[in-house]
Amino acid sequence: MARIIAGVTSSHVPAIGAAIDNHRTGEPYWQRVFEGFERSKEWIAKAKPDVVIGVYNDHASAFSVEIIPTFALGTAAEFPIADEGWGPRPVPAVKGHPELAAHIAQSVILDEFDLTLCNKMEVDHGLTVPLNLMFGTPKEWPCPVIPLAVNVVQYPPPTGNRCYMLGKAIRRAVESYPEDLKVVIFGTGGMSHQISGQRAGLINSKFDHAFLDNLTKNPKKLTRLSHLELMREAGAEGVEMVMWLIMRGALDDKVDEVYRFYTVPASNTAVGHIILANRVKSSKKSAGKKAPAKLKRAAARQKIQRIRS
Ligand code: DHB
Ligand code: FE
Repeated sequence: MARIIAGVTSSHVPAIGAAIDNHRTGEPYWQRVFEGFERSKEWIAKAKPDVVIGVYNDHASAFSVEIIPTFALGTAAEFPIADEGWGPRPVPAVKGHPELAAHIAQSVILDEFDLTLCNKMEVDHGLTVPLNLMFGTPKEWPCPVIPLAVNVVQYPPPTGNRCYMLGKAIRRAVESYPEDLKVVIFGTGGMSHQISGQRAGLINSKFDHAFLDNLTKNPKKLTRLSHLELMREAGAEGVEMVMWLIMRGALDDKVDEVYRFYTVPASNTAVGHIILANRVKSSKKSAGKKAPAKLKRAAARQKIQRIRS
């Protein structure tokens, strides 16, 4: 069976992509950002996921403003890199996993989450920047990536709670896929930032740190944040963080925090990053677990019956 082993969140600031593409990662401003992902790159190289599910938002690249799906799942075999105004980024095209994506579509839609299916779709910095941060700059991405684009650009985006519940449906879908696959789910965007308007440049580190704490320990609390609260505290574009709750919903209630990194700023944004791992349920561990007293009594009764008969 396929299983989700971990979740990763990361900001997806386009200037991070530009720093990589223009070979400026060694400059002090950028070094501070990239250093924070060194351990993450080591972690994911060891974790070796077979598939990544990349939850991100399209920034009017693939969908323009004519058609804005709330949840759009990439079911194609390949996703070309979008031209965001400076030509497509010089990164490899994203290879999908059409079989698992079709299975997720069937499971999640029959589970009553009405996804839009994209058999052809370009992907922008929302997806490619986190791939760079986690995998560096390889010639080909090391595993297939299933993109899940979420509308956070035009009101109304989905609620954090809806996103969290969708994460749970995605987990059910993955766990009903027969092939043994290790899946890592990415939630991208955030943290606090506002790109335009009177509050442009807003950063709220106190809110961001509390969000990271709750993401690990008390995600339900985050699902109750309204859009207005999120935007008031974390800026208009901070609303991107509802996407992190899809990632979190797909994990166990109790998770291990593997790593966390936070730095301010990168371009207009507070960069926040966390790796959360599901606790491994080995059969050995569960065999060693104490059986509840009721079960023990039932087993003893059965044994006695066997002896008697
Ligand atoms: C910036 C951040 C984003 O998440 C984005 O989509 C665009 C710009 C920024 O910080 O400049
Ligand atoms: Fe963004």
